[in-house]
Amino acid sequence: MATNNAVSPGAGSTASHTLPSIIQGGMGAAVSSWRLASQVAQSGQLGVVSGIGLDVVLARRLQDGDKGGHIRRALAAFPVPAIAARAIEEYYLPDGRSPAQSYLGVPKLAIVQDRPSQELAILGNFTEVWLAKEGHTGLVGVNYLEKVQMATPAAAYGAMLAGVDYVLMGAGLPREIPRLLNQLTTHSAVSFPVDVQGAEPGTFTVSLDPLDLLGVSLPPLKRPRFLAIVSAHILAEYLARDEAIRPDGFVIEGPRAGGHNAPPRGKVVLDESGEPQFGPRDYADIDKVAAIGMPFWLAGAYGTPEGLIAAQSAGAVGIQVGTLFALSSDANFEPSIREALVAKAAEGTLQVKTSLRGSPTGFPFKVADLDGSLSDPEVVEARPRLCDLGFLGVPYVRENGKVGHRCPAEPVKPFSRKGGGADDAEGRLCLCNALMANVGLGQTRATGYVERPLITLGADLDGPKRLAALHPGGWTAVQALDWLLGSSET
Ligand SMILES: Cc1cc2nc3c(=O)[nH]c(=O)nc-3n(C[C@H](O)[C@H](O)[C@H](O)COP(=O)(O)O)c2cc1C
Repeated sequence: MATNNAVSPGAGSTASHTLPSIIQGGMGAAVSSWRLASQVAQSGQLGVVSGIGLDVVLARRLQDGDKGGHIRRALAAFPVPAIAARAIEEYYLPDGRSPAQSYLGVPKLAIVQDRPSQELAILGNFTEVWLAKEGHTGLVGVNYLEKVQMATPAAAYGAMLAGVDYVLMGAGLPREIPRLLNQLTTHSAVSFPVDVQGAEPGTFTVSLDPLDLLGVSLPPLKRPRFLAIVSAHILAEYLARDEAIRPDGFVIEGPRAGGHNAPPRGKVVLDESGEPQFGPRDYADIDKVAAIGMPFWLAGAYGTPEGLIAAQSAGAVGIQVGTLFALSSDANFEPSIREALVAKAAEGTLQVKTSLRGSPTGFPFKVADLDGSLSDPEVVEARPRLCDLGFLGVPYVRENGKVGHRCPAEPVKPFSRKGGGADDAEGRLCLCNALMANVGLGQTRATGYVERPLITLGADLDGPKRLAALHPGGWTAVQALDWLLGSSET
């Protein structure tokens, strides 16, 4: 077992720490919010906030009146008060928004980024990490998706300004992150490569100049540890080989995990309900991962006490767990959604399927069946197709050589005009708007239409069912941790 690995500090950091046995996985958007990560971190494990869409989350929480004053308390700690004041001025509504009122749009982090868009992303990530770290010395990480490249520099910088301990990234091969984190540690200007469809790799970059943006010179930041979330041992071996792209460890995530999954390898075989079948080739060879000699955690259906023991026996430091924490009362699912999911998990009737077409990213995506959500084709049919958040939008080269942005979940006509194929658009769901609805921040349209949720959970629901038997009224993150670590009855 390898539960006690002390690691040395990174650049600018002041202390080494023991590696956590349990990583509470990042769950976007804002499902693993600051409250959940704080509870986990205070219990001595790694709490991870989702770093996806935090610009929108910040703006909407301010428009909902910032109940409890948490956002404004965190903003008051931001090193440049004028930047924090601009966000409050722009978005804060002391009495909150009336339910019929639409949330304001926010400036998008496109390939060319203006000051307001970068400021809001920095502030969104700063507040989330600052609140998760407030009042204790536990470890807090932030989770990003490799596919969401354009937002990464500003988002990571905001998290680092709040002293984030770990950055974790999945949904792609995160080659560029170690260098980005090194540069941001010294507030250096960065030029971060972005994949643009129709252009050679390396042609386009997004720029962030922290000094110019903040207008003040700050001491060096702590260099967070970086964990790459990958599905295959060959990807871990590849990243480990070269110092320039080597992370500090790996999360090895299998195809039963919640959220996005790596596509099945080889020819895709569908079962009678249209779900892709995963086979032995879709699971990493853990012996080969262990042979790399770097710390790693196993994720995807490991969220039980036996899963933790099995992972550690295989040489892992521990496990990353999502579903069990997503359903805890400290996570941020809108309460009626959580209650419905926990009740179904307790009865054993909760169903989670792998959708091949739903996510605009093109990756398989786990979807939980829930009435009133986009898991129901009739709810999908009733939704006016539109795209206004664009976290998952993809940059592409337009005929005039400039960079445009398109998303397969946007209305088919504009998507086709932008060169997107109608077959690619078919069946795609607007994850961005649904994810906001999951956490009580769904948009109300001028027509009165209110965005509907779409829930992702892992395929293995053994842990939630057993925990529901132990805690019939629902469980907290600390109760989930106690159970996983074996300090509570099974
Ligand atoms: C609601 C939910 C949202 C998730 N969102 C993300 C995400 O944004 N980024 C990511 O890397 N993983 C995401 N995951 C995966 C988790 O971080 C974790 O690796 C996974 O859930 C582990 O498998 P388990 O659900 O069987 O415990 C999500 C999982 C859930 C349940």
